[in-house]
Formats: sequence, C-alpha cells, structure tokens
Amino acid sequence: MNDHGYPNLVVFDHPLIKHKLSYLRESSTGHRAFRALMSQIAGLMVYEVTRSFATRPVRIETPMAGTTVHRLSCVVTVVPVLRAGLGMTAGVLDLMPEARVGHLGMARDEATLEPRAYLNKLPPDLDAGPVVLIDPMLATGGSAVAAIGMLREAGALDLRMVCLVASPEGVERMEAEAPGVTVYTAALDDRLDERGYILPGLGDAGDRLFGTG
Ligand code: PRP
Ligand code: URA
Repeated sequence: MNDHGYPNLVVFDHPLIKHKLSYLRESSTGHRAFRALMSQIAGLMVYEVTRSFATRPVRIETPMAGTTVHRLSCVVTVVPVLRAGLGMTAGVLDLMPEARVGHLGMARDEATLEPRAYLNKLPPDLDAGPVVLIDPMLATGGSAVAAIGMLREAGALDLRMVCLVASPEGVERMEAEAPGVTVYTAALDDRLDERGYILPGLGDAGDRLFGTG
C-alpha cells in the first residue's frame, strides 16, 4: 500500500476500488452513476481509514450466553468539503452512522487556484475524537491545507484526510503544510496540468457530481 515514497500517504490497492474508480474517471459516466460510484468508493475506504479508532469492551447477552464485545468508543466527526465532498458523505455514513457531520465550504479561484472559504459549520468540541476530512480531489493541496487549518483552529487534534484522486503536488504540499495528517487516497495520479487539474484525474468533481458542467 505504501511503496510510493510518501510517508503521509496511503494509496488503496484493492480490485473493487480500482474497478469502481475506472468508471468514475470515464468521461461518458453521467452524474447519476458518478454519484453512486463516488459514495461506494468512499464507503469501501472507511474500513482502512478507521483501523486505529479506539474501542471499549462492553458486556452483552447473546441469545446463548453473556460475553464481552467491543464497540467504537470515540466520537467521530466527518467533515466534507463542499461541494464535491458531499458526494462521499453518504458512503462514509453508511459505515459509521453514529458519526457527526461538520461542513466546510471551499471554492477554488479558477485564476489564482487559491481556495476561498465560504462556509464553516463545525461541532464545538472537535477535540472529542478523530476528525475525517473528505474531499475527492487533492490537486494543488490549497483547499485541503486551508481546511486542515480551519479544523485545527476549531480544536481538532486527531486528523486524517480521505480523497479519491491525489496529485504528487498535493501530497507534497500536505506533507509540508499539514504535517501529521495521513492522506488516504484511492489513486495517486501523474501530475497537475497548467490549470491545476489532475492528470489523468476525472475532471471537475463537483460539476460531474451535480451535473453542472
Ligand atoms: C475542488 C475539489 C477540492 C479542490 C481541490 O473543489 O473538490 O475542494 O477543487 O483543488 P486544490 O487541491 O487545488 O485546492 P472546487 O473548488 O472546484 O469546488 P466545488 O467542489 O464546489 O466544485
Ligand atoms: N478540482 C477538481 O474537481 N478536479 C481537479 O482535477 C482539480 C481540482
């Protein structure tokens, strides 16, 4: 999973994730299928992303006997970056229905590629447990680094990011400007083009998700 040389990066190497991502990338995939695929891939990634989450022992009765089982003991907060992160949220919540959801709104200026924050709606006690930032695209890394800054400002201590497609430029920027934050991605792509789009990528994730392209 980790032979790419980036210590802060986990790249998924699962046939089902690769299969679904292949359709997500294809330009002929319409927004209905795109939406379903994005959510499904995010759900499949949750298993690995949550591996270090704390559990606590609980005594229960099965129909046969008393036994000790283990349940998640942490308060999990999932934070999608609008708009495109919304496409991953349902898939993540399917696996972690108890999670709280905070929202960050971020739009990238097409000319400068700088992110502009337009929404910040987070629970007050972000330090209560792990915070999972979700955004399908890690391109220049500007949006992710700004989002991490807003989460830290709001008190988050235990942070990770889940994306679907990452560029080497974005991963390196995260390593430099958001140290300690592990990035989980379904794919590490080749590079950015001159407009800051990931190659080969999947195009504009928000537009493809919502049919606004
Ligand atoms: C996309 C994407 C990320 C950002 C990545 O959002 O969802 O948030 O671009 O680019 P970066 O790494 O260079 O910052 P966009 O700003 O297009 O907004 P949208 O999701 O509303 O379309
Ligand atoms: N945002 C996207 O939606 N796609 C990219 O390739 C880069 C940024």
